[in-house]
Amino acid sequence: MRDLAGKTAFVTGGASGIGLAMGRVFAEAGARVMLADIEAKPLEQAVASLKGNLPEVQGVQCDVRDYAAVERAAKSTIEAFGKVHVVCNNAGVGGAAGADNVSLDDWRWVIDINLMGVVHGIKAFVPLLKAHGEGGHIVNTASMAGFLVGTGFGAYTATKFAVVGISEALQMELEPQGIGVSVLCPGWVATRITESRRNWPAEYGEPPPRIDGPVAEQIAELVRNGMAPSDVAALVLQAIKNNEMYIFTHPHMRPHLEKRVERFLTAYRKLGPAPQERPR
Ligand code: NAI
Repeated sequence: MRDLAGKTAFVTGGASGIGLAMGRVFAEAGARVMLADIEAKPLEQAVASLKGNLPEVQGVQCDVRDYAAVERAAKSTIEAFGKVHVVCNNAGVGGAAGADNVSLDDWRWVIDINLMGVVHGIKAFVPLLKAHGEGGHIVNTASMAGFLVGTGFGAYTATKFAVVGISEALQMELEPQGIGVSVLCPGWVATRITESRRNWPAEYGEPPPRIDGPVAEQIAELVRNGMAPSDVAALVLQAIKNNEMYIFTHPHMRPHLEKRVERFLTAYRKLGPAPQERPR
C-alpha cells in the first residue's frame, strides 16, 4: 500500500506506546485512524492528543480478548469511515515469571490478549479488507521474543512465536488478493509495557504477585532506555508502503538470531546432506 492518504487504519492498544505512535504516523500520512483500547480514559486522552492537528482520528473502547467487542469495533470503524485498509493487531501485555511461578491464570491472560487478540482482529477484519477490493495491510505486533527465548518469558514467548507463525501463514493466504501482512518484531521500546498488570481483569482471580528484584529492575531499565515508539512507528509505515513481511527494529539483536538459526542448522546437519544435495 504505497499511499495511506484517504485510507483508514485501525490500531488496537492504541491508547499507549507503540499503538499510539502508529496511530500518529498513520494520521500524519493522511489516513483516517480508529484507535481501539481497553482503557477508556487513556484512550480519550490519546484521541484528544492527536485530534488537534489530525482531525480524522477517533477512538473505540474494545477488549481484544472478547471477539464480540472486536466485531463491534470493526462495525464502528466502518460506520465512522466507510472502509478499513490497515489493521494493526498490536494490543499486548508483558509478563515475566519462571516456569515454577507463573500461574495458569497468568498463562491464560497473556494468551487471551497477545494471541487471541490477534486472532480476533484477523477474523473480524480480513473479510472487510477483502470486501472493498482496494487492497490493504495487516500488521501483527509480535516481538523479538517471537524469535529469541529469554528465561522467565515462557508465556509471553509462546504467544509471540505464535503471532510470527500466524502472520507468515496469513501473508501467503492474502498475497494473491493484494493484502500485505507484516509482523512487527521490536526489541525494547520505551512504553508502559512493564505496567501491563494495570489491566489485569478480576475474572482471572488475584493478580500474581509483582515480581521485584534485580531482574525486574533490569527489565524496567531496558524498557526505560528502549527505542522511542515514534521510531518504531516510522519503520511500520515504511514496511506497509514497501510491503515488507518482517519489521525488525533493533540491529544489535541480529547476532542472537543468527546464533539461534545456526543451532538449528547444526542439529539438522547431523542427518547428513538432504537427498537432493547428495551426489548422483
Ligand atoms: P503499552 O502498555 O504502552 O501499550 C499497550 C496497550 O494495549 C495499552 O494501551 C493497553 O491498555 C492496551 N491493552 C492491554 N490489554 C488490552 C486488551 N485486552 N484489549 C485492548 N487493549 C489492551 O505497551 P507497548 O509496549 O506499546 O505494547 C504494544 C505491543 O508491543 C504489545 O503487543 C507488546 O507485546 C509489544 N512489544 C513491546 C515491546 C516493548 O519493549 N515495549 C517489545 C516488543 C514487543
